[in-house]
Amino acid sequence: MRSITILTLLALPALPWSAEVRSPDGDIRFSIEVDDVGAPYYEVDYRGETVTSQSRLGMRFQEQQPFDSGFRIVATHDDGNDTSWEQPWGERRTVVDRHNELLVEFATMDRPQRRFNVRVRVSDDGLGFRYEVPKQSGYSTVNIVDELTEFHLPGDATAWWIPGRRYNRYEYLYNTTDLEEIQTAHTPMTVRLLSGIHLSIHEAALVDYAAFVLDQRRPNVFQADLTPWSDGVRVKTKTPFHTPWRTIQIAPDAVGLLNSDLILNLNEPNVLGDVSWVKPGKYVGIWWGMHIGANTWGSGPTHGASTGETKKYIDFAAKHGIEGVLVEGWNSGWDGDWYSNGDVFSFTEAYPDFDLPELTAYAARKGVELIGHHETSGSITNYEKQMGDAYDLYESHGVHKVKTGYVADAGELKRVDDRGVAHYEWHDGQFAVNHHLRAVKEAAKRRISLNPHEPVKDTGLRRTYPNWITREGARGQEYNAWGEPPNPPEHTAILPYTRMLSGPMDFTPGVFDLTFKGADSPFRVQTTLAKQLALYVVLYSPIQMAADLPENYEQKPEAFQFIVDVPADWEESIALAGEVGDFVVFARKERGGEDWYLGALTDETARRLSIPLSFLDSDATRVAEIYRDGDSAHWKDDPYDIVIEERELSREDVLELALAAGGGAAIRFRMAE
Ligand code: NOJ
Ligand code: CA
Repeated sequence: MRSITILTLLALPALPWSAEVRSPDGDIRFSIEVDDVGAPYYEVDYRGETVTSQSRLGMRFQEQQPFDSGFRIVATHDDGNDTSWEQPWGERRTVVDRHNELLVEFATMDRPQRRFNVRVRVSDDGLGFRYEVPKQSGYSTVNIVDELTEFHLPGDATAWWIPGRRYNRYEYLYNTTDLEEIQTAHTPMTVRLLSGIHLSIHEAALVDYAAFVLDQRRPNVFQADLTPWSDGVRVKTKTPFHTPWRTIQIAPDAVGLLNSDLILNLNEPNVLGDVSWVKPGKYVGIWWGMHIGANTWGSGPTHGASTGETKKYIDFAAKHGIEGVLVEGWNSGWDGDWYSNGDVFSFTEAYPDFDLPELTAYAARKGVELIGHHETSGSITNYEKQMGDAYDLYESHGVHKVKTGYVADAGELKRVDDRGVAHYEWHDGQFAVNHHLRAVKEAAKRRISLNPHEPVKDTGLRRTYPNWITREGARGQEYNAWGEPPNPPEHTAILPYTRMLSGPMDFTPGVFDLTFKGADSPFRVQTTLAKQLALYVVLYSPIQMAADLPENYEQKPEAFQFIVDVPADWEESIALAGEVGDFVVFARKERGGEDWYLGALTDETARRLSIPLSFLDSDATRVAEIYRDGDSAHWKDDPYDIVIEERELSREDVLELALAAGGGAAIRFRMAE
């Protein structure tokens, strides 16, 4: 149903005007108004409780009159949608998009008139709104110097957050604090109100614009602080343009956030057409050896990426039905201080001991594919100059996935302009945002999927570009090799409720040698073995690494069987239970099959869970292959105590699970024969 209200100027009342829209279930109400100086504001409530109170809207420009006051609402339009769409790969095949929409047109009375619109979509799991700026009279080029969008949250709330615009990009341990302790935070930022309502603030469809961090300008008032270019301008654009969606996911409890598709729904449909060449799957790689110091990226006696070593990985992958083999350190540039100078890298010249044509042919004979690697160290211009040739090379050898890397301090991405002058940009400014999409589009032309590390945050663009298959963008397993400190047990009990709300993460689970430097070393993995298996189900990524060295898997073949079995692509995913930072339980059904999988993990606290199996979608009896913590398991004292057992269970049963401190459980439910 569609209705249009044109409000004539003659009928303008003295009081500010407002408009509102509710979610289809009526629980969320978004209202928008101008105050007595014509400044636009919005408010959100959920089941009658305020979620954001009077929060400002608008933007300011370098040259033109700002969009901050003097406005009237001159028209509103209602619309709505109730459809579903199919993901080529994903957490679920079918995504339902049911929302109500409101478009509000703002204009000034002065001349030349300023105009902008706010489009709002409200679904049962949250809302998104964006600015749509039409052509203005007298100018088209604009430099945005400030976006005024605020999120004015209730006090007395708890937040899970990482700092914004600090040197280590998104790779921080999460803070759990009162709201007021935050200065700046990256999104998604997760908030629990006193009533138990959970919120996540983020953005969707970040295209040709700067990302924002949340800046607490006044107590509980967070401004969307756009990351600037090196010259201080936030966004360089032309009218007409629209911003990304500013999103608030809302749920009555923590688990509700995990079952939301809001971010994907606010993105545009696939523009790449047939993407059957984008293939989810598992991979091993020449990787962990470098992180624990057993191998080097650069040349020398322990160079990881040698032809011989790569063949060992290919053989191992082929033997266990693992689709991919990542090789880092194959290309010239790794000798010396690559971290501080990415211009050293060639993306087409291999080290002499790495034979790309021979290895790709060898892998193909065994039904395995190499996964390419481009570490840019943040030298974007050096990479962009070579990108086409580099993807051509991989395409010509049948390499269809490339992991990229942007290791450089935040604010240190090197951009060389047409005059040869170097500028240093943020990982989440408009320049980086546009670079990533250029790379994704170039890769798509060669049927290559990308997995960027040190990326820009995910805003759901995998829907539009399904070859943007996964990314890092948080503290991953690598920190367990050398992080000071390594990831504590609660880290993976926070990620699902924060970083993972934005999309898949290449966390690289599956380290089996948890004490590679000895149990007393600070450098160790702070999980049990069973929890490493649980990560495959809990931390969604359509390409999942088996991160450890093959010899460590060969020593524990029974536990490794779960990694062999677990798929990376799902028909359905259901978060069953959990609390942010404490524990989480996911059930997922394999795509195109009958098996269900369950992953449960806990923080440093051991706990017992009762899990009804009613998610199983038929009455059939299943054989549950259970990988769980043993009675004496503890991440610190006894991480290897694992019980692997089979039980016959059905949807009528309630499973009692005991998770050790820092522990977890992984289960495959297969049909009983
Ligand atoms: C950082 C990435 O996160 C890691 O996976 C990679 O091995 C190094 N960069 C080197 O490229
Ligand atoms: Ca990293």
